[in-house]
Amino acid sequence: MSEPNPVEWVLVAELPELARRKRKQVVVGDTPIALFLVNGRVFALHDVCVHKQRSLSKGTVLHGRIICPGHQWSFDPATGEAADQVECQPTYAVRVAEDKIYVNPRARAGGADAGATPYTTTAAG
Ligand code: FES
Repeated sequence: MSEPNPVEWVLVAELPELARRKRKQVVVGDTPIALFLVNGRVFALHDVCVHKQRSLSKGTVLHGRIICPGHQWSFDPATGEAADQVECQPTYAVRVAEDKIYVNPRARAGGADAGATPYTTTAAG
């Protein structure tokens, strides 16, 4: 795969760094973004929880969902939808090329369509 268009895609991390802890905070411009490696797929969500502004990147991954460290809301990593809540965490499109993780810093609308094309990697984890 060729390198993604640098106007739309920002290099934020290397896949091996994310593979170690499965989560990582990166900052694009002024926007903190939480990267997660869930079942071999890389996802990006806004790092500031829509509930009470805790850092999602300090949370955990449990049964394929992101668990906020604040009050344990459970987010779908692809859509940002929170279980049993109306709030939705903004998500970002992700691409991985040659072990480099790129994020498109334009937040996607939340909801069922947001995660339609998540990147799939073969990295262990
Ligand atoms: S701050 Fe995230 S669930 Fe409350």
